[in-house]
Amino acid sequence: MKYRHKDLLGLEGLTREEIMMFLDSARGFKRILSRPIPIVPILRGRTVANLFFEPSTRTQVSFGIAAKRLSADSVTITAKASSVLKGETLLDTARNIEAMKVDGVVLRHSASGAAHFLAERIDAFVVNAGDGCHEHPTQGLLDIFTIREHFKKIDGLKILILGDITHSRVARSDIHGLIKLGARVVVCGPPTLVPPEIERLGVSVHYDLDSAIKDVNVINILRLQLERQNRSLFPSIQEYREYFGLTVDRFRRLKKGVLIMHPGPINRGVEIDPEVADSKQSVILEQVHNGVAVRMAVLYILVRRVPWKEGGTS
Ligand code: CP
Repeated sequence: MKYRHKDLLGLEGLTREEIMMFLDSARGFKRILSRPIPIVPILRGRTVANLFFEPSTRTQVSFGIAAKRLSADSVTITAKASSVLKGETLLDTARNIEAMKVDGVVLRHSASGAAHFLAERIDAFVVNAGDGCHEHPTQGLLDIFTIREHFKKIDGLKILILGDITHSRVARSDIHGLIKLGARVVVCGPPTLVPPEIERLGVSVHYDLDSAIKDVNVINILRLQLERQNRSLFPSIQEYREYFGLTVDRFRRLKKGVLIMHPGPINRGVEIDPEVADSKQSVILEQVHNGVAVRMAVLYILVRRVPWKEGGTS
């Protein structure tokens, strides 16, 4: 089985087999990460540039560590520390970086479609590390990887994605990936934060959290993305928590073994109570841990498709 693409731009365009390829490969890399010396030389001489034009802690650090664990070289460029501030375009920035013989670019950008735009115009592979409200495929893969580790399957599970669906690229990647692997996906949030067309992706929509949480295996709670909302979409933070927050009271009513997930960063006391985020059922930090193995798998699979560059870092 071969990965058919130059890039990883989203889970929407992948087959079930391609998603499984990343998950199975990540399982092997997770075993490597548990060794006393968690490094393999398989990408020695290869170079990845991380272009982070939007804030990030988890994804940026995770890609950096993943490259190191594979013995690849990586450089990270942020918008504030680059010539973007002097007016250079994203494409010119990427072309200049490509001229330095990098194999791939990992891009976080506030514009939906930015990763697709770049992927069509440069030879280096592009990994979408989150583009606006569109997709965040490596987060989707690590979420699915974490669920699969706990339940040994995805097929037949009922998974609730809770909160600000409209602004969430994580929700879209999770939905595309989980549905391809046979999960039943339910989304729940205020009507102003659930796009009407979301049902076309194959999910069912609830606006009442207390009924939505019945019989779920997993709740993936999304951050309230206030920075992407240019008008008030619910009356107040307190009311959001009351109606759509995973509070201690709701948590106590869940059936045993429900997995609590959140892609981070979390707003404690808004979409999730601190006691729930820190509970034994919470796998929030496990998601972060698995993210390194997943990103190792992504870099490994994409770099192997790139011919060795003459005059590059080799
Ligand atoms: N989950 C996630 O993408 O977190 P960061 O924004 O910190 O990378």
